[in-house]
Amino acid sequence: MTDIAERLEELRDKGLYRRLRLISGPQGPRVTLDGQPVLLLCSNDYLGLANHPRVRGAAADAAMRWGAGAGASRLISGNMQPHGRLEDRLARFKGYESALLFGSGYLANTGTIAALAGRGEVVFSDQLNHASIIDGCRLSRAETFVYRHGDIEHLSWGLREAGERGALIVSDGVFSMDGDVAPLEQLVELARNNGCRLMVDEAHATGALGPDGRGSVAAAGLSGEVDVVMGTLGKALGSYGAYVCGRRELTDYLTNTARSLIFSTAPPPPAAAAGLAALELLESRPHRIEELHANAVTLRSALAAQGLAPGGSQTQSIPIEVGDASQTMELSERLLERGVFAQGIRPPTVPEGTSRLRFTVMSTHRSEELERAAELVGAAARELGIGPGPAAAKPVAVAA
Ligand SMILES: Cc1ncc(COP(=O)(O)O)c(C=O)c1O
Repeated sequence: MTDIAERLEELRDKGLYRRLRLISGPQGPRVTLDGQPVLLLCSNDYLGLANHPRVRGAAADAAMRWGAGAGASRLISGNMQPHGRLEDRLARFKGYESALLFGSGYLANTGTIAALAGRGEVVFSDQLNHASIIDGCRLSRAETFVYRHGDIEHLSWGLREAGERGALIVSDGVFSMDGDVAPLEQLVELARNNGCRLMVDEAHATGALGPDGRGSVAAAGLSGEVDVVMGTLGKALGSYGAYVCGRRELTDYLTNTARSLIFSTAPPPPAAAAGLAALELLESRPHRIEELHANAVTLRSALAAQGLAPGGSQTQSIPIEVGDASQTMELSERLLERGVFAQGIRPPTVPEGTSRLRFTVMSTHRSEELERAAELVGAAARELGIGPGPAAAKPVAVAA
């Protein structure tokens, strides 16, 4: 039996202990954290939609009309009008025949991957994929070939080795902790040439990349070419829940086989309605995406001016690698004392020895506050003797 106290002590010793912090009030560029006003630089509410009057209003109206909860899984009696409406809209938005809503991105990834690969088959997963993808691979009981981050040669080799056992290639579109974009064109080509399906996780790409924020797949002109496109409502769309887009046959198959859909309560109607309102805003007011891009450029260059290299980030997710977990948390604490909140990111979220601060900008940040924050980061980093260093991926051994 796990000795809980001992295990907690061990986490503290390694600088890996986590605790919940409390935000008072809604999400926004400036929030009150544990009673202290701070500039929020680690939220995924990239476009400020979680607190947008139209999105809030849609959730409130839906709560009054359809109630707070769905009451059952979608296959029992929990499938309601807001779910269907949102699915239709998502499918159109992403350029796919069909979309299927799940309770969360974690559930969408675990359920979908486990449904698309099984014992005796091989899933190919980028080394820096999100934990929900890793857990989906584990649940599938297929063999997992972890290819070096973005390394097409390594993936090709793995596909050749696997031969007919290859079932699924899966990659983040935008890597959550590094902010770089997957080599999607090459992934499509490899999947096609090797008779494998390709699944792309658009959690951090939806609302941030591509025309009207349609995501990295649309940005690369590959809508319809990627077999499975997954995304969440909980980040740029400001709500909660997730979806998988593909051909109708795919969503029909997942409806019948994805255990995380079958055995979990349907998303609450207010969450679905809020997601729909956010999508409408994205399409009618794309200026938010431009502001997000401009803010990402501002923060990246302001950090670079402080001698801090944001690795290969091309997006709103901007890492500054520190390496050591305790030192990362020390840097985070020092910034907090100065009114800047950027949570330290440590293993198992990122590989051992690559702990970092991962800054995320929002379209609603002001450029002056981002510039000022970068100065504070630079000063705190210098105090701690943290110098420039890329947050790029480090090669790891291939796990079976
Ligand atoms: C790349 C990626 N995929 C999936 C998820 C899970 O999505 P959700 O938060 O909706 O469960 C996340 C969340 O952090 C993510 O970063």
